[in-house]
Amino acid sequence: MNQYIIRGNRPLFGEVTISGAKNAAVAIIPAALMVDGICRIDNVPQISDVTLFFSILEALGSKVRVLNQHTVEIASHSIHSTQPSYDLCRRFRASYYLIGALLGRFGEATVAMPGGCDFGVRPIDQHIKGFNAMGAEVSVEGGFIHAKAKNGRLTGASIYLDVVSVGATMNIMMAAALADGTTVIDNAAKEPHIVDLANFLNSMGADIKGAGTDSIKIRGVERLSGGSYCIIPDQIEAGTYMAAVAATGGQLLIKNIIPKHMDCISAKLMEMGVSVEENEDTLLVRRSQPLQKTNVKTMPYPGFPTDMQPQIAAVLALAQGTSLVTESVWNNRFRYVDELKRMGAQIQVDGKVAVIEGVDHLEGAPIQACDLRAGAALVIAALAANGTTELSQVQYIERGYENLVGKLRAVGADISLVEVPDEEKPEANIG
Ligand code: EPU
Repeated sequence: MNQYIIRGNRPLFGEVTISGAKNAAVAIIPAALMVDGICRIDNVPQISDVTLFFSILEALGSKVRVLNQHTVEIASHSIHSTQPSYDLCRRFRASYYLIGALLGRFGEATVAMPGGCDFGVRPIDQHIKGFNAMGAEVSVEGGFIHAKAKNGRLTGASIYLDVVSVGATMNIMMAAALADGTTVIDNAAKEPHIVDLANFLNSMGADIKGAGTDSIKIRGVERLSGGSYCIIPDQIEAGTYMAAVAATGGQLLIKNIIPKHMDCISAKLMEMGVSVEENEDTLLVRRSQPLQKTNVKTMPYPGFPTDMQPQIAAVLALAQGTSLVTESVWNNRFRYVDELKRMGAQIQVDGKVAVIEGVDHLEGAPIQACDLRAGAALVIAALAANGTTELSQVQYIERGYENLVGKLRAVGADISLVEVPDEEKPEANIG
């Protein structure tokens, strides 16, 4: 169990290179199971959710060859099981993509109910609705989801999603890529990682059109063959470093980004008085004046991402005036607020709205991460705070941020990773 020790109140200066997108990688790697050939995937982030997927795929029969830090080759000619490890799958949310991938290719899948960050109820009814419409029978038994195509292979269908769901859109897209006939997903999610998954599948031989709009058309093909693909940069990792420099002051050149993906985050930071200069694949972010209040409401893409909500709240905790942060995607994504309050933040949560009264400064404190983005928000607060913060439960952060400590140290942060002896470990707080 590791902790971060952060001595704050130091501006950040320098360059940060953004890694491949976590939420694209955790869909593309299981999608490699569908490919009857060798997939070479570049820009794979080195994070623990990705490592978990490698273990799961290998146990199913894929050959996973890590070629270098960010490149992997996956060969899935000889899959011998459609039941991935229960213990590994229940540890994270993205394991649900194994259902779409295995069901699409083999007509059946038995996968543990997914785990993941706790933001209240996280149903998968829309995924199941899509699989049912394509002719699969789906049941839940003994903690497993069993899905089986009635005729051995799925058939294309028209599917209208009742809620805009990233996971359901991607899972149905995977399953439909190898179905018999055409599938149309309406009210589809439009996040950059949805386009990335579609591009990956198309580069392996799928026929998917419309990804990035709310109507996606997938003509099923007989087989996906091998190819090479490079994962897009991580919008949320980039946004997190932007928020960090907004909180601490200083100047960061954020490299390897797609500027269009960052518009929703840049716009809010600029309203707060942060300067954001866009170039071809970089952003120069500078904060040299006091932060101003603003209001933020999370929305599906291209709205402000829920996965940046805790980080922007940490910045607003230091802005002049009263800001409102409304969470409209998840029911319960303010659990980190109590930890920010330990540092002196003044925040009241009323249902889906956090009312943030900006303070002059935060103070370091012993605190703990309760999920991935909450952990990132607490790092940001600690970097800006006076004094020392001991942040525990950092394994949540390592699920989604590659080398956070190294990247922050390189731009002047005083942050170090320490191993806590067993007897001092804090109680797990997984909700
Ligand atoms: N929903 C349903 N039924 C479903 C699916 C979703 O009602 O069948 C609801 C959810 O309860 C939620 C909303 O729809 O209120 C959106 O959920 P979505 O399905 O879009 O979320 P997800 O696919 O489970 C992914 C990311 C999350 C990110 C959300 C929203 C992955 C592995 N996870 O989750 O990322 O918050 O989309 O953008 O891609 C993170 O990276 O920190 C993270 C939590």
